[in-house]
Amino acid sequence: MRTEGDTWDIKTGVGSTALFVAAARALAGDEPGALAEDPFAEDFLRAAGAEWAALLDGEAPGHPLTETEFGKDFQEFQAARTRYFDDYIRAATAEDVRQVVILAAGLDARAYRLAWPDGTVVYELDRPQVLDFKREVLAGNGDEPRADRREIQVDLRDDWPQALRDSGFDPSVPTAWLAEGLLIYLPADKVEQLFETVHSLSAPGSRVAIEQMDQVSEAAAEAIGRQSDENEQARTEWLQMIYNEPRSEAAAWFTARGWTAERVDVPEYLRAHGRPAPVDQPAGGVVSNLVSLVTAVRS
Ligand SMILES: C[S@@+](CC[C@H](N)C(=O)[O-])C[C@H]1O[C@@H](n2cnc3c(N)ncnc32)[C@H](O)[C@@H]1O
Repeated sequence: MRTEGDTWDIKTGVGSTALFVAAARALAGDEPGALAEDPFAEDFLRAAGAEWAALLDGEAPGHPLTETEFGKDFQEFQAARTRYFDDYIRAATAEDVRQVVILAAGLDARAYRLAWPDGTVVYELDRPQVLDFKREVLAGNGDEPRADRREIQVDLRDDWPQALRDSGFDPSVPTAWLAEGLLIYLPADKVEQLFETVHSLSAPGSRVAIEQMDQVSEAAAEAIGRQSDENEQARTEWLQMIYNEPRSEAAAWFTARGWTAERVDVPEYLRAHGRPAPVDQPAGGVVSNLVSLVTAVRS
């Protein structure tokens, strides 16, 4: 169960979800015709220890990410969201946005992976030990960011806007915000506060991209755990980490405040990109069909 002010590192609690999604990205990137590739994901897993490396090497029998319908679904979903948000970032920088804020950056290596125009500043916010792990792994491998990357070690339930400003963030110029894999780990009132903050710090021309998940029904929760004992354990742990509460729908929230928003559900996005939508398969998509991707622009 989550508690107010709980903490974690990269291998515990909410921090371990950053490794889990990085693992899904690494595995998904190996599939023929993958929608996205993230070579840094593998480096993080190998640095995280033998059990994560074994997953990459096909030596983790029974692991939910490789051996279940849930795993296939989750990999497709991660590749879809990586591609969607990569395209969002590229479109924003093509429109001269030079300030990017990645909320709950986790093991997102876009600052190292994407080609950034000169002068782009990328702020990465996450808990201190998560960012420490990421920096140490990448520096240890001799990797250099391709933008002016600034770490902001914060808890997103605290006063992160002040920390962002203290690091040089300028609210008078357009920003591209990204919230990928975050909202479910925040209580609904903190999500509301986060939307308010993004809105209040966004100059005209700013954009925001958000991944959101419907509340997980009892039936959906059952389906996630159905396929193996290990999956059942992972499901139980994950359900204890998320705030399974009703939250504001992001596209409607930003539209109501004058932004122009677009939303796509993950199965629809996968089909549009020629990938199998797990929800169409006999076993059904168990997570991806709960998720939608939203982009909004402030004129
Ligand atoms: C599923 S991972 C997603 C990471 C990254 N955005 C990605 O898609 O690869 C969730 C991330 O949210 C971060 N996170 C969740 N709640 C947070 C909070 N209250 N403050 C700071 N970071 C938080 C975790 O540390 C973790 O890195």
